[in-house]
Amino acid sequence: MSTTQPGKTGINTEDKQVAIIGFGNRAQSLVRDFRASLGKKIKVVAVADPDTTAAKERVAKMGISARIYPTAREMAEKEHSIDGFLISSPDHCHLESFQAIARFNKPILFEKPLEGKEENFYKLAQELLRYPAPVLVGHCMRHAPILQKARELIEQGWIGKVNSMRFVQNCHYGDVFFRSWHRNSATITSLFLEKATHDFDIMHMMNGDNYAETVFAFSKRYKFGGDKPNDLFCAECPEQVECPESLLNLYTTIRGEDLLNVEERVGRNKCVWAKEADISDDEMCLIEFSNGVQGVYVQTFYTPSSYRGRVYTIVGDKGILEIDLGEYRGKIEFFPRYGTRNDRMVYKFDYLGKNHYNGDTHLVRNFLGLMQGKESPLTTIKAAIASELLGLAAVKSVRSRKIEKVDPGKYLE
Ligand SMILES: NC(=O)c1ccc[n+]([C@@H]2O[C@H](COP(=O)([O-])OP(=O)(O)OC[C@H]3O[C@@H](n4cnc5c(N)ncnc54)[C@H](O)[C@@H]3O)[C@@H](O)[C@H]2O)c1
Repeated sequence: MSTTQPGKTGINTEDKQVAIIGFGNRAQSLVRDFRASLGKKIKVVAVADPDTTAAKERVAKMGISARIYPTAREMAEKEHSIDGFLISSPDHCHLESFQAIARFNKPILFEKPLEGKEENFYKLAQELLRYPAPVLVGHCMRHAPILQKARELIEQGWIGKVNSMRFVQNCHYGDVFFRSWHRNSATITSLFLEKATHDFDIMHMMNGDNYAETVFAFSKRYKFGGDKPNDLFCAECPEQVECPESLLNLYTTIRGEDLLNVEERVGRNKCVWAKEADISDDEMCLIEFSNGVQGVYVQTFYTPSSYRGRVYTIVGDKGILEIDLGEYRGKIEFFPRYGTRNDRMVYKFDYLGKNHYNGDTHLVRNFLGLMQGKESPLTTIKAAIASELLGLAAVKSVRSRKIEKVDPGKYLE
């Protein structure tokens, strides 16, 4: 339902009513962005989260007055005036979350990856391709001004014909995945889905949305996991003073964060050495794309915070683009093949304290545009399916130790 409310100035502000499924870290961050990037144009009116106590506290803390439900199905039965949904439940609940609200046929901001469980992913992909309303997938990096600028430079021909790509992700905060539900393959399958799909999506974008066709991957767990109980919380551990990865040491002593804030971070406070942590923390793959471009991707989840984060190198026959995404600011450097030793062009970007290289600002604006019927999704279901199919083929290759085909099947025809 849309309401038009004349403000004091006489200018109409159009509030869109949004319901959220899964009100954890990501949802809270996006709700902050709704306010910071859209003024009051999005109003959160309902939240479905099985942890209703925590949801009530978070909603109150954020100053919103949403109705709280324990399940998305219950919310769907009682709510009748929703203009759009945010699905931000854990990866392995995405199919169930979508099915609960699909009959509304309203725009959805759908968090990535599409699904954490392989069998659910294929079902969801089919259902989403048939869904009549627009779906914006949370591949927020596509929206980042720095990456849009790099895409533009490639399309303008600065580096000529793109031949190969080398994408590296050094994730210094990778320990968070081993403190929560992410650490078990039953929930995310692999970080090739949960995390690398962001980078695969950008590889596809820089390659004119020509998707991956074959992949050969390795994946190992070198650092995290072990023999500690699955229900051990860091703050209750007798070894937290000695343990180098404890919240106390890693966040408070080394990084200077407030320990109480860190310990309260929803679902990010268990022991990284738990038995159930069976996902890898160091992964890499070689990729060939449908237009003959080749690529390499590496992701590591225990790198020093002083080291570089994501660095993307794109090689063309007339030059190279290097995108250094940095944590707070980033830069694109263009090196011309026929330039002198010192020739380069540099673009610098400040993310202004916004998440995902300032991508989230534009992601939530695109979501509002969908609900207003003025825009279409920048991050499409088809592109999200392509990245997830690449992630799944990489997992298959790790198991088979062979080159695997990324099977587009009936999804990408
Ligand atoms: N686009 C991005 O860059 C980005 C960043 C972070 C997380 N995410 C995605 O957002 C989603 C949520 O991640 P998070 O970090 O907020 O996790 P989280 O653990 O912080 O929050 C998940 C919330 O969902 C609730 N929940 C559990 N089961 C549910 C169910 N069946 N239905 C509804 N709610 C349920 C939990 O109680 C919790 O409050 C994940 O899919 C994750 O991959 C995307």
